[in-house]
Amino acid sequence: MSAFDPNIMGIDDTFTSSNSSSSTSTSSASSRNPNYTTNRHSTTALTSSLDAYRSKSSLQTYNYPLHDPYLPLFRTPCSSTGLTDTRSSNPLTRRGYYVRQKCVDITVDKFIKGGGTQIVELGSGWSTLYLRMFESFEDDFTWVEVDYPSLLDSKIECLSQVKDLTGSLKFLKRDITGDAFVDDLKKLIDPSVRTLFILEAVGMYIPSSSFSDLLRNLTGEFKKCEVAVYDVVLQGRFGLMMKENLVKAGVHPLGLSKTSLNAWSEFFSASNLKKSEVMTMLQAYKGGIMSREERMKCDGVEFLDEVEEWEMIMNCYCFCTGRNYDCD
Ligand SMILES: C[S@@+](CC[C@H](N)C(=O)[O-])C[C@H]1O[C@@H](n2cnc3c(N)ncnc32)[C@H](O)[C@@H]1O
Repeated sequence: MSAFDPNIMGIDDTFTSSNSSSSTSTSSASSRNPNYTTNRHSTTALTSSLDAYRSKSSLQTYNYPLHDPYLPLFRTPCSSTGLTDTRSSNPLTRRGYYVRQKCVDITVDKFIKGGGTQIVELGSGWSTLYLRMFESFEDDFTWVEVDYPSLLDSKIECLSQVKDLTGSLKFLKRDITGDAFVDDLKKLIDPSVRTLFILEAVGMYIPSSSFSDLLRNLTGEFKKCEVAVYDVVLQGRFGLMMKENLVKAGVHPLGLSKTSLNAWSEFFSASNLKKSEVMTMLQAYKGGIMSREERMKCDGVEFLDEVEEWEMIMNCYCFCTGRNYDCD
C-alpha cells in the first residue's frame, strides 16, 4: 500500500463516506426520514456519524481495551442505513480510532476528576461517551448532547430503552452554527459553571469562520470554558491530498483550512482560548496525552505493518485543548 493511497485515510470517518455504498445509504436514509437535511455538507456530516459508529464498533470486534457495552444500543438505526461494519476493518483505521477515543476519554475523565460537572458534546453523533462516563462517575454531572434533530430523534428513541442510565443527559437538537444556538444552550445549563465543550471530528464539517464564531460565543458566555477538539491539520503534501479527498467526499472546504499546528494555536487564541495546547495525534499517542502504558496496551492489540503510513496519517489529525480562564 502506498503512503498516498487515499484508502488508508479511511482512518477518519469522512473518507469512508466518499465511496459509493456510503452515498447510497445516505440517500436511502434521506428518503426514509423527511427530517434528514438535504444540504450536501450536512448530509456528509450526518453520514460521517455512522462511519464513526461503525469504526468505533470495530474496536470492540478486535478487542481494543475499551469498555463500551453501549454501542449495540444504536445498532438498529445505524444498520438500517445500509452501512455495515466491514469497510472499517483496517488496522490503520482501528488504531487511529482507538487513539482518538482514548484521548477524548482521558480528557473528559481528567475534567470530571478535577471537579468539572458540566459537559457539552457538540456534534455528538452516536457517541457513547456520556453513557460510559455515567457508568464510571454516576450522576455527578450535567451533560448535553447537541446534533441535528434527525439524528438526535433516532438516538433518543434508542436511549428510551435505558432510561435509568440517562438521568443527567440533555439533548439540544440544533445546528451548532445557528444564530440562537448559544442562547438555547444557556437555557439548558448554567453558564457560570465551569464547562467542557467536546468537538470530536465536528469542526471539519463547518466553515472555519462559523467555528470561530461558535467558539467566541461560547467563550464570551461561559466564563469558565474549556474546549477539546479532535480535528484535521492538513499539513504537507499528504495533508493536501487528504483535503482533496475530503472535499470530494462532500466536506466543506472552508472547514479544512488549517494546515499547521500553529494555525490551530492562532485559531484558539483568536477564539479567546488563551491557554491552549495543540498537538498532532501522533504526538498525543507518543506521550502528549496517552501514557507509555496505554500506548503499549494499544500496540499489543494487533500487529501494524504500515507504521510509517500510520504515522503520516496521525500527523494530519490533531487534538487541541484550550480554556478561557486562569486556573486558581
Ligand atoms: C464525524 S461525526 C462525529 C460524531 C461524534 N462526535 C463521534 O466522534 O463519534 C460528526 C458529527 O457532527 C455533527 N455535526 C456536524 N455539523 C453540525 C452542525 N452544524 N450542527 C450540529 N451537528 C453537526 C454530525 O451530524 C455528526 O453527528
